[in-house]
Amino acid sequence: MESLSHFHSISPFKDDILKGKVALITGGGSGIGFEISTQLGKHGAFVAIMGRRRNVLDSAVSQLQAQGIKAIGLEGDVRKNEDATRVVEMTVKHFGKLDILVNGAAGNFLVPAEDLSPNGFRTVLDIDSVGTFTMCHESLKYLKKGGPGRDSAVGGTILNISATLHYTASWYQIHVSAAKAAVDSLTRSLALEWGTDYDIRVNGIAPGPIEGTPGMSKLGPDEAKSKIGDMLPLYKLGERWDIAMAAVYLASDAGKYVNGTTLVVDNGLWLSRPRH
Ligand code: HXC
Repeated sequence: MESLSHFHSISPFKDDILKGKVALITGGGSGIGFEISTQLGKHGAFVAIMGRRRNVLDSAVSQLQAQGIKAIGLEGDVRKNEDATRVVEMTVKHFGKLDILVNGAAGNFLVPAEDLSPNGFRTVLDIDSVGTFTMCHESLKYLKKGGPGRDSAVGGTILNISATLHYTASWYQIHVSAAKAAVDSLTRSLALEWGTDYDIRVNGIAPGPIEGTPGMSKLGPDEAKSKIGDMLPLYKLGERWDIAMAAVYLASDAGKYVNGTTLVVDNGLWLSRPRH
């Protein structure tokens, strides 16, 4: 069960800013992806969520529908090309078009580099980096200006969920850091090529530590986490809501002149150094 703490925050955006938009969110059934699905839906979007686990999808879809959001769950693994093709096609078949693709699916575990097998390294790059590229590639024909169900001058938009691990270096995250560095690079390359040719805006969000997520629970014991705050002046846990609001901003017309950027949403943490 997801923590409900984010429901305390009221959106500063009007609830119709994504009215009629169709969003596909990979990894949308849990964690940050689920909150992004919820908030895109609460701001008017129709929502398709993609994930590997049917039970997680079913529970997420009922929670979305209970809030009046039109939502479907599509089973699939972003590492499989045929799954990516099928899920994008099903989304368009169901809702008539695709406006917003959010690449949230990710793999993560803590492991010292010397204990990580090349296959373990490859697995995370396959999910995060290749998976993101595959989903973008499969979605292109629907997102481009003049694509099915859209205006001849207006393209859709892509959001890639990344991290700040690779801005410096992070212990036991060599695979995730490399994978997210590649994701940020994809964001820039696609923004350039597809922004120019197809009016598709491609941006990223780099979350800091967010409470109640798989990423946080994998970071280690809670007592270690509570000590980080003493050492890093800007350390403060964010809520999934904070990331979802960034997604609403970037996906909506509020972000219409933003292309090729990765917005860091971490309270400034990655800049932080221990007090001396
Ligand atoms: C070392 C590991 C390992 C571990 C898997 N491997 N887990 N190595 N330590 N804890 C290695 C395996 O030994 C194998 O290599 C290879 O990785 C593939 O493992 P599989 O179990 O076959 O992979 P699979 O079942 O596909 O699972 C993928 C997964 C899994 C990434 C390993 O954890 C997963 O799917 N997680 C998705 C959910 C998740 O973690 N989401 C959180 C994202 S949070 P060999 O050589 O033995 O074959 C996030 C935040 C980032 O992204 C920022 C955090 C701060």
